[in-house]
Amino acid sequence: MENQISKNPTNNDPLPYGRQLIEEDDIEAVVKVLRSDWLTQGPVVEQFEAAFAARVGARHAVACSSGTAALHLAVMAADIGPGDAVIVPANTFLASANAAQICGAKVLFADVDPESGLMSAEHAASALSLAGDSRVRAVLPVHFAGQCDAMEDYSVFADKHGLTIIEDACHALGTSYSADGKSHAIGACAHGDMATFSFHPVKTIAMGEGGAITTNDDRLASRLRELRNHGMTRDPTKYKRNDLAFDASGLPQPWYYEMHEPGLNYRASGIHCALGLSQLGKLDRFVEQRRKLAEHYDQRLAAFAPTVRGLARTAQCRPAWHLYVTLIDFEALGIERGAFMRALRDRGIGTQVHYTPVPWQPYYTERYGKPNLPGVAAYYSRCLSLPLFPKMEESDVDRVVDAIADILGTAQ
Ligand SMILES: Cc1ncc(COP(=O)(O)O)c(C=O)c1O
Repeated sequence: MENQISKNPTNNDPLPYGRQLIEEDDIEAVVKVLRSDWLTQGPVVEQFEAAFAARVGARHAVACSSGTAALHLAVMAADIGPGDAVIVPANTFLASANAAQICGAKVLFADVDPESGLMSAEHAASALSLAGDSRVRAVLPVHFAGQCDAMEDYSVFADKHGLTIIEDACHALGTSYSADGKSHAIGACAHGDMATFSFHPVKTIAMGEGGAITTNDDRLASRLRELRNHGMTRDPTKYKRNDLAFDASGLPQPWYYEMHEPGLNYRASGIHCALGLSQLGKLDRFVEQRRKLAEHYDQRLAAFAPTVRGLARTAQCRPAWHLYVTLIDFEALGIERGAFMRALRDRGIGTQVHYTPVPWQPYYTERYGKPNLPGVAAYYSRCLSLPLFPKMEESDVDRVVDAIADILGTAQ
């Protein structure tokens, strides 16, 4: 039977806004682990971590069960809790803000640029005034859609206020930027303390569910590893209960482990890491195709400017596009976004809104009130993500743009 998941979408297949590309060697890599002794906590996890760290140029990569787990672990490892505050952009997925909130910290929602959807260091600085009595401890730049803002500005801002920088790089595996006359990969943490990644199937590489945190800080890496595994350590140099830990001759007891703070089970299994490792080998190909498709969208959509256009680009960044977001002036076009999405869906084209501003979620509005963030409001009213995934061809982009032209022709 033909493998459904590796089938190329044809012009009759529905186009979702994102999807994984799984090939036979990915499947074989997973099967190999299934046939091995180690479904989890085996050698493949460390192999994936070493390959990932090498790929992005960081000293450490800590694999975990999702991008959400990565963010939660990063906030915990930064010792952020009640009485603290974290600056988070209003345009992001729930998980970026929830990671701080769930640790008991206050979330300071910052505005974003209405044309790129990105928080800049300047936006982050404006959010400082919301801190009240809380101690601002971290800033969490989200590299939305795969693009980053000026990271050296974040460095300066964080140094000035003594903040930890936790990059939410869940969209940005493969992205690089230039700063200080050099090119830096996202994840290398050249201007941040930790960077978090997601390997959900719509992301640049897929693990089913999976995530990672990269850092150059040995202490943070070791803490992250303990926190993802119940807060346990098996490092005899860290043991506190010598009476329990060592036998009469001073050898560590073979069964022994210690816990110095409570953690979670946020481990990534060997099954997931095998898929991640196989997919990582295809990252350049996936990114190249995403860039090619994004460029084709840019060229085709130029005819619709200014009412339909792509995101504004930041000067220093070379994005590995995770999303192709369009900004559509629905009001000027006289069509509602929901109706436009339904008309595309009727033509077999999936779209999505990234994102409803997180501070507008009832949970956050009930706690922090409705904030005055005009940038995110202007961004949100126009954004729509079009299909973008590596199995697409330029002809699929043509099909999407032709459908848009058709619908707008009908609407006018
Ligand atoms: C910006 C951002 N941060 C965090 C996450 C959470 O990642 P995961 O779905 O792997 O938990 C996502 C996932 O969509 C995301 O888009």
